[in-house]
Amino acid sequence: MTEATVIDGKAFAAALRERIGVAAAGFAAQTGRRPGLAVVLVGEDPASQVYVGAKGKACEAAGMASFEHRLPADTSEAALLSLVERLNNDPEVDGILVQLPLPSGLNEQAIIAAINPDKDVDGFHVINAGRLAVGQRGFVPCTPLGCLMLLKDHLGDLSGLEAVVIGRSNIVGKPMAQLLTDANATVTIAHSRTKNLPDVVRRADIVVAAVGRPEMVRGDWIKPGATVIDVGINRLPPEEGKEKGRLVGDVAYGEACAVAGAITPVPGGVGPMTIAVLLRNTLVAAHHNAGMPAPEGL
Ligand code: GUN
Repeated sequence: MTEATVIDGKAFAAALRERIGVAAAGFAAQTGRRPGLAVVLVGEDPASQVYVGAKGKACEAAGMASFEHRLPADTSEAALLSLVERLNNDPEVDGILVQLPLPSGLNEQAIIAAINPDKDVDGFHVINAGRLAVGQRGFVPCTPLGCLMLLKDHLGDLSGLEAVVIGRSNIVGKPMAQLLTDANATVTIAHSRTKNLPDVVRRADIVVAAVGRPEMVRGDWIKPGATVIDVGINRLPPEEGKEKGRLVGDVAYGEACAVAGAITPVPGGVGPMTIAVLLRNTLVAAHHNAGMPAPEGL
């Protein structure tokens, strides 16, 4: 048995960011302003601080303006809603991202609902979830859209393929299933109550694992030759003498590599795609806001 092809999300994301940079420069030349993304972070969650920093840097590197708003953990819902309203009305801001999770006491649904859907580059607003559900143009959540790009790049046409999405979150599982359905795959959403999960996964030509449980999907669950997309990023407890534990996905990578046709690694697979797609969505938002057609081929 040959080893699986490793799907290099890092390289794909770098190439996408390059194309976005070119398009962003074109936008700036035509309009006299850069596409702009506002990122709001409430509180001091360490992982969120890292993500928000990375998003700001990626924006600047692609020739976009980044507006960072870091607020204390005890920020009131009224203050946060008022900031969102200000960003909705700011013509320099094309995209708004409120980093989740929010500190307890802040109603995430209420905050997301306050974002102008045409600036909701995360695709979390119910209007955008609804647009995706009925096949209208709108913003699609970055991680599943990134996964779809990798799948299409690797497999080409997905028509008629059996896809199993493990996980039913609003951010990944549900939109992923819709995107795969729209791409004419036959889709099953599996979750914590699914019976005989290994057997369900075994019939899949495409497996998307988004459960947040380290190495849950074992090699013997994978159909030989299947394409495996691992959305999980889990840190294991540190080994003896080490400060930090290893990062692993939701798939037992070594085992799956021996069976799958292709697989995304962790890190370096899906992760880099999320920020690249966020930049893409911001660029598209900027074009809409300026009354210009969205650039093709992104
Ligand atoms: N927290 C973890 N991932 C995300 C994301 O894609 N968007 C937002 N807003 N928060 C997150």
